[in-house]
Amino acid sequence: MKIFRTPGEMRRWSFEQRARGKSVGLVPTMGALHAGHRALVEASAARDDFTVVSIFVNPAQFAPHEDFDKYPRAFEGDCRLIEEAGAHAIYAPDAATMYPEGYATYIEVKGLQDGLCGKTRPHFFRGVATVVTKLFNAVQPDRAYFGLKDGQQAVIIQRMTKDLDLGVEIVTIPTVREADGLAMSSRNAYLSREERERGLSLSRALFHGQALMEAGERDAARIVEEARAMMTDMKVDYVELVDAANLQPVDRVDGPVMLTMAAFVGNTRLIDNIKFKG
Ligand code: PAF
Repeated sequence: MKIFRTPGEMRRWSFEQRARGKSVGLVPTMGALHAGHRALVEASAARDDFTVVSIFVNPAQFAPHEDFDKYPRAFEGDCRLIEEAGAHAIYAPDAATMYPEGYATYIEVKGLQDGLCGKTRPHFFRGVATVVTKLFNAVQPDRAYFGLKDGQQAVIIQRMTKDLDLGVEIVTIPTVREADGLAMSSRNAYLSREERERGLSLSRALFHGQALMEAGERDAARIVEEARAMMTDMKVDYVELVDAANLQPVDRVDGPVMLTMAAFVGNTRLIDNIKFKG
């Protein structure tokens, strides 16, 4: 397994592969990998000649009061999972390489970044868009793979990639869940047994909303209200039914929508969503 630490060495390797006519897939991560990440790596390994997994806990997407310092870090275990899942290289720069002194350039995806998670975490998508662009520049992938659990992130990255002509195909992969429905997330590691139990209300609320829509309910306010009522024992951040493409709230379900939510269980903020074709 090759491990690259700087954009220069990463780019040289990638150019070599692409010059030989080989395709390169990138799975961007912040490490502490789980079965959801494994699914992304396997999807790339099945499609691309070479798969690179980036591991970088990106300080630019955390506010000072958030969990950057305690975000789980598990480099050795991550390397094992990455190798088993069929990847060929890891790109793991450090913060000083990514954001050297004097760093001043950030990317914003106006409109899409402001609602949903952007309301509570106004810094977040600017940090994500910036780091993903930097990762694309270093790895020069043909394709990049993102999980749909971060539904807003996936829409923002698709928009940014198109707007900036980055020439990377964005592939999205369905959320991987535990057997009881909890969406896989590196932050689940923060949950005590009791908090994890409470966290299940999130996916139950989503599945209830989905069942309502499948049964023909089209009134957005009713769907949101019923889903929210199921989110007990947690501090709800938001529950919204939005257009799946532009993330704007809808009144009625008459096209592809995303039922999306975030809530705090103890100090841990969990997010989840499902898409419905409409
Ligand atoms: O989804 C994540 O893990 C992160 O937001 C990403 C895309 C790796 C950027 O840091």
